[in-house]
Amino acid sequence: MNSILMVCLGNICRSPLAEGILRSKIEKLNLTITVDSAGTSNYHIGQPPDNRTIENAKKHGIDISKLRGRQFQVEDFDKFDIIFAMDASNYTNIIDLARNEKDKNKVEMILNRVNPNSNMAVPDPYYGGEQGFENVFILLDSACEVIAKSLLR
Ligand code: 4NP
Repeated sequence: MNSILMVCLGNICRSPLAEGILRSKIEKLNLTITVDSAGTSNYHIGQPPDNRTIENAKKHGIDISKLRGRQFQVEDFDKFDIIFAMDASNYTNIIDLARNEKDKNKVEMILNRVNPNSNMAVPDPYYGGEQGFENVFILLDSACEVIAKSLLR
């Protein structure tokens, strides 16, 4: 296992935060694992994360200000060992691009690492208030804690 991709819709709220949180945990564990993020849409290609996400991450000691949005590509199935979707819509959009079973088997709903088989969503915080961003942080921090520990084995 050496590469993980986080995927949401815009790649400016949930997935860059997941990338930042997991990278920070991996660095603390002295592991060398590539972590990246992407969006299924082309809405925010080349843009930094949403300011509310940057501020929320900063509050928790994580700097994601230099990340830039990119769109998920079919080649990501070759580059990454695990592809984490934030919600069922992201999951379906990624699966629709899969070329074979091997590709499909790489895709997981991220919160299933905390609550197996429940297919819970990390709610899209884009149209909501500040509390939505903190809620996303709490959910992603718990999932990334489980993911980081699983990489130690
Ligand atoms: P994300 O949030 O998928 O967590 O990055 C969104 C960001 C932008 C939009 C939707 C969701 N949008 O429609 O522009």
